[in-house]
Order: sequence, then C-alpha cells, then structure tokens
Amino acid sequence: MTRIISYILILALINSHTHIRGVSSVLALGANLLCSRLPALTSKQRRMCMRAPDGIVAISEGARLGLLECQAQFRSQRWDCTPAAGTATVFGHVVPVGSREAAYTYAVSAAGASYAVTAACARGNIYSCGCDETKRGRYADAGWKWGGCSADLRYGLRFARRFMDAREVEGDARAVMNLHNNKAGRRAVKKTLLTECKCHGVSGSCTMKTCWRTLPSFSKIGDYLFLRYQKAKLVVPRKSRRRSVPLLTLKRSKRARRPRASHLVFLQKSPNYCEKDLAVGSLGTLGRTCNRTSKGSDGCDLLCCGRGYNTRQYVRKWQCNCKFHWCCFVQCQTCQEEAEEYTCK
Ligand SMILES: *[C@@H]1O[C@H](CO)[C@@H](O)[C@H](O)[C@H]1NC(C)=O
Repeated sequence: MTRIISYILILALINSHTHIRGVSSVLALGANLLCSRLPALTSKQRRMCMRAPDGIVAISEGARLGLLECQAQFRSQRWDCTPAAGTATVFGHVVPVGSREAAYTYAVSAAGASYAVTAACARGNIYSCGCDETKRGRYADAGWKWGGCSADLRYGLRFARRFMDAREVEGDARAVMNLHNNKAGRRAVKKTLLTECKCHGVSGSCTMKTCWRTLPSFSKIGDYLFLRYQKAKLVVPRKSRRRSVPLLTLKRSKRARRPRASHLVFLQKSPNYCEKDLAVGSLGTLGRTCNRTSKGSDGCDLLCCGRGYNTRQYVRKWQCNCKFHWCCFVQCQTCQEEAEEYTCK
C-alpha cells in the first residue's frame, strides 16, 4: 500500500505528544527522532522533516483539522469520513478509489496543512516565517493602512505544497488527480482569506484604520470545499504529448477541456456506501444512527439503504434550570426524558 497518507501517521504518532506536553516537547525529541518515527514519508518528505521539524508539527495539526472538518461536513452522509478500522486506522484516511470523496479528502487535508502552517507562522511557532511584511505600512486605495500581522499565506501554501505534493510519486492518473485536488484545497484557503480592520481615533471615530489579512475559521474552508465537492467534475486521463504524466480532461466535453483549478476532480464514480467493502473505501452504514423523521440524507430510509433500523429506548439526562448564585457558583437540576435512538440494520 504505497498510497498511505503519511500525515495521518504523523497524527497517530505525535499528536499525543503535542496535546499533552506541548509542541516544544516534540521538537525536544529532536528532528532525527521525530522524523524517524514517521515511517511512511517519501525521501523528499523526510528531508523536509529534518530541515523544518517545526513545520511538520504544524502539518500534523493541519491533518487533524482536515480530518475533523471532513467528519463534521459528512456526519449525516452514508460516507462519513470515518477512517477504516483495524490496522488501517493508522493509514485511516485512505480512500482507495479515485472517487469524489477521495477528492474532498485530499483537498481538505491540503487546505488544513496550509492553514495550520500559516497559523503557526503568525503565532511564532515556526522559525523561518512570521507575518507577511510585504504590505505593512502601505496604504490601500480606500485610505486605510496595512498594519498588524497579516497571515503569511505564501509561506504556508508553499510549505504545505512541497510536503503534501511530495507524496504523489507514482506519476499515474490518480497521482495527477490528487495533485489537482491538493491545489484546489490550497486555493480554497486563499479564496477565503479575510481582511480584518481596527479603527483608531477619538472614541472609535475611525479617522484612521489599519487592516490585515487573517485566516477565517477552518469550518468556512470546509463549507467552501463541500460546495466544490457537490460540483466535482468527472475527468478522464489522456496521454500528454509534452509531459510524461497523463493529462486530465473533463469527461463530458467534446474538445478535451481541462478542469478549472478551483474544481475538485475525480476519476471513478462512487460506490453507494451501503455495504461494507473496504476495497472501495466503504464501511457500510450498519449500526449508524439515523433520524426517523428526516427526509434528508440522515433519514433512516436513505441512510440505511432501505434495510430498516433498530429502535433503542433510553433515558436522556442533562443539566437544566441552572441558577447562578452570588458569588460564584452555578447550581443545576438534572432533567430527564425518555428518548429513542435508531440505528441502521
Ligand atoms: C430529525 O430530523 C428532523 C427533521 O429534519 C429534525 O427536526 C430533528 O431535529 C432531527 N432530530 C435529530 C435528533 O437530529
């Protein structure tokens, strides 16, 4: 299995350190130890890891962001972005088929990596980057001044591109597909970048204003990519006369049109994800919680693929009628109600 997604490995191996003891302790392990713990790296990735272990820590944080966002976006779909179980958890995120879902996975991971590296730069966590100083002190046409710390997206995009794209060494259609979707993911970060401003002047009169570029919440990028996922384009590989790697062109076009850079692209139709079939990246929907009254994708009919569902009765408890007492504690009662849970057969 060469198409393992190495950052999930990174995730599995070092996240425990980053979250329990802080980032610096990972670096204290030394680049050598850190990078040798990541067995799935290509040789280029390993070199990058040795040169910039702090960047690799950010990449692993980005992988976590990407995975969590993917799961949030797909929580009510048959395919819910759950990494396959068993030995595959480490390699979890692999979608073996070149499907629309694989396209989203790559795009959101590439976006997560770019995002996390850029954010780490602004926080001073990476030695060789910081804020984007190129505009600082200049005036925009609207009269305000660039100030504060603008996100150094250029560094973040470049670092993430070099690391993430270095995985695609096969040079086949799937590699070209992955690279295209990685790029679309990075582009999503660029497109969703915000400009934030602050007013200076007597009682907020805004006679002077400074602004800077800042990252949105990552869920905004997840939303943006989810729309792209819904409009993803089926492509076919064609032999390129000039390059050794195949060219992807839109399936439904007469004159071999290329997909746009912003499109997510896929090579194969998705399975229906009803039954478990790990070979096509489907865990099936057996045991998934569904909503009996919903007509949407989370409704029991659709989610359980017509197989029916089990009903479980239970007592739901929660804190309620909370009162704030001066000073300073909160007292709550426990409320409860009978509830039902439905799971796919
Ligand atoms: C189930 O779906 C209905 C209709 O879409 C919605 O109003 C309700 O909040 C959902 N219930 C749960 C538990 O998500």
